[in-house]
Amino acid sequence: MNPDGRPGVQEMSFDAQRIDFSDKRRGYGELAQALTGLLTGERDRIANAANTSALLFGSLPAINWAGFYFLSGPSGRELVVGPFQGKPACVRIAFGSGVCGRAAADRQTIVVPDVHAFPGHITCDAASRSEIVVPLLRAGRLLGVLDVDSPELARFDAADQAGLERLARIFLDASD
Ligand code: SME
Repeated sequence: MNPDGRPGVQEMSFDAQRIDFSDKRRGYGELAQALTGLLTGERDRIANAANTSALLFGSLPAINWAGFYFLSGPSGRELVVGPFQGKPACVRIAFGSGVCGRAAADRQTIVVPDVHAFPGHITCDAASRSEIVVPLLRAGRLLGVLDVDSPELARFDAADQAGLERLARIFLDASD
C-alpha cells in the first residue's frame, strides 16, 4: 500500500488474446480499441512501440515476429531495430534493402505472400514465410516501419493491411 492507502501496484491487464479474428475487420476494430486504451496517457515513442508490439504479438493469430524499425544512422537513411516481440532480429537495414527498407524507400505498405520469392528479403527468423511492412509517416515525414512476420504462407491480405495501417496510425498519433 502507498501511504495514502492506495494499492502500491498499478493494475493493468489486457485480454486482447481473446480477440476473435474469424472476421478480420471486426478483430482489427477490437484491437484498435485495445491499442488506443493501452497507449492513452503516454507519449514516449519507445514505450508505446514496446507495448504496441507486445499487444500485436499476443493478439494476432499465426505470427512469429511483430515490431518496429526506426530511421537512424548518420544520413538518416538507415533503419535500426526498435521494440519488438519474437526472435532476435537483424539490427540495421539499409534504405531500399529487404522488405523493410523497400517499404521505407517507397513509403508504401508491402505485403509479401512468400518471402522466398521477394528479391532481397532479409531472413531474421527462418520460420517466417510471409510478411507485411507498414511505413510510419507523420506529416509527410518517415519515422520508420512496423513489421509483422508469419510462419504461414500468404498470411496477410487486404484486411490485414487496412487493420495494421489503422494500428500504425493509432501508434503515431499517440506518440512523440
Ligand atoms: N524480413 C525483413 C527483415 C526484418 S525481420 O523480418 C524482423 C526484411 O526483409 O526487411
